[in-house]
Amino acid sequence: MFDFAPTADADKATLYDDLLSAADALTVGERDAVANMANISALIWQFLPDLNWAGFYRMIDGELVLGPFQGKSACIRIALGKGVCGAAAASAETQLVEDVHSFPGHIACDAASASEIVVPVMKDGRVVAVLDLDSPSPARFDEADKAGLEALVARIGARLA
Ligand code: SME
Repeated sequence: MFDFAPTADADKATLYDDLLSAADALTVGERDAVANMANISALIWQFLPDLNWAGFYRMIDGELVLGPFQGKSACIRIALGKGVCGAAAASAETQLVEDVHSFPGHIACDAASASEIVVPVMKDGRVVAVLDLDSPSPARFDEADKAGLEALVARIGARLA
């Protein structure tokens, strides 16, 4: 049985430290990328408050294809450059969007989403996936979330492809 849990009443930095340790322990030694993405989605859902979607899109034949996630069913394929996910994949840079309604081309999979962060997952210098988190609260994500999620994918990204 896995028994990972965030520290009670932790500040954001501690929460991300806890999340990174749990994610590392869960994926080390496992080479199936989909299994690892499934467990990471579940961990993020458990550790981070105020989300309505958390999961992955995988880069397959030049487009993003829905991968393991938690939340409502979502758009299956996203072209490079389209929406927040496509922008993160095309630029290989994190997209931190305080208000999704003001992001040109935002793809609304769940009408409840108000803010979003998408972090590219790199392997051997290429974008192999993106990690996408949505929240029903405006400006839910900040620089501490960006740093925490980027540290997470830097640590385990090679196990996600
Ligand atoms: N909003 C994303 C689409 C994916 S869903 O949020 C799960 C986008 O604009 O790329």
